[in-house]
Amino acid sequence: MLKADRRYDELLRRFESGLKEYIENFSPSRKSLFDAMTYSLNAGGKRVRPVLLLAVNEMLGGSFENAFPFALCIEMIHTYSLIHDDLPAMDNDDFRRGKPSNHKIFGEAMAILAGDGLLNLAFEVCLDRVSDANTLRAAKILARAAGVNGMIAGQAADLDCEGKAVAKEEDLQFIYENKTAQLISAPLKMASALNGGKYFDELSEYGNRMGYMFQLVDDILDVEGEFSSMGKTLGKDEKENKLTGVKIYGLDGAKERVKKLYEACISAISSLPDRAFLVSFAEDMANRAK
Ligand code: IPE
Ligand code: IPE
Ligand code: MG
Ligand code: MG
Ligand code: MG
Repeated sequence: MLKADRRYDELLRRFESGLKEYIENFSPSRKSLFDAMTYSLNAGGKRVRPVLLLAVNEMLGGSFENAFPFALCIEMIHTYSLIHDDLPAMDNDDFRRGKPSNHKIFGEAMAILAGDGLLNLAFEVCLDRVSDANTLRAAKILARAAGVNGMIAGQAADLDCEGKAVAKEEDLQFIYENKTAQLISAPLKMASALNGGKYFDELSEYGNRMGYMFQLVDDILDVEGEFSSMGKTLGKDEKENKLTGVKIYGLDGAKERVKKLYEACISAISSLPDRAFLVSFAEDMANRAK
C-alpha cells in the first residue's frame, strides 16, 4: 500500500494476522458489543500507528512479540476515537474506512459502548504486558497521549472551535498537537521506551512534526481528496465550519507547510543510524491520497 521501504507492507501483514488471532481467541460475554467493536477494528484503515510502533521497535532491536500488544492497543484506542468522532453529536459522519460508520450499523448507543469497550480493552491488553520499567513507561505514555491532556483535549478543542467567527492559529496548533499528534507520536515514544528509551527525544520530535503534518494533509484531503480512496465523506470541514489548516493558511499555504513539515520530520531524525523507514514513511505521508 505504502512504499516506506517495503517494511510497511510486511509489518502491516503481521499486524493484521496478530489482530485476527486476538479477535478469534477472545471470549466476549456480550456478543452484540463485541460485534460492534470488531466491525470497526476489522474495517481496514491504514494502521499507521501500530506499524510505526512495530517498525521503530524493530529498528531499535526489539522483538515483534514483545511490541505487538502495544501496537494492538494503540490501534484499539485510535479506532475508538474514530467511532466517537463520527457520532452525530460530534462530526456526524456516515462513512468510515469505506463502510457505514459504526452508529449507522449498530445505533448510537451501541457505538458509544463499542468505543468505551475498545478504550478499556486497550488498557487491559497493555497492562497484561507491563512487567518491567520499560513496559510500564510505554503504558504511561499511551495513557497520557490518549487522555484528558492528550487526544481527548484535542477533540474538545476541535468542538470548542467549531463555528467560531474568529479563526486563531494558536487554536489550530492546540487541536493538531492534541487530537492527532498525540496518537501519532505515542507509538514512536512507546517503541523507544520498550527499548530502554533509545533516541527518545529524536523520535518524539519526529512524531510531533509527523502528527502535525498528518492532520494538515487530512484537512487538505477533506477539500480535494476522493471518497473512493479516503472512505469517508469529504467536504465536511467547511460545511461544519471546522477550524482547519485550510481555513487558516488557504489550500496553497497549507500545501507549502506540508513540505516544510516533511523537511522538519527528516531533520528531527538526522542523527539516527537506521532511518530509511522513517524517511520514506514521511514521504508517503506527505503525498498520501488516503
Ligand atoms: C483519521 O486517521 C483521523 C485523523 C487523525 C486524521 P487515519 O487517517 O489514520 O485513519 P485510518 O485509521 O487510516 O482509517
Ligand atoms: C479526528 O479528526 C481526530 C480523531 C479522531 C482523534 P477529524 O475529525 O478531522 O478526522 P476525520 O476527518 O473524521 O477522519
Ligand atoms: Mg473530528
Ligand atoms: Mg471527523
Ligand atoms: Mg478530517
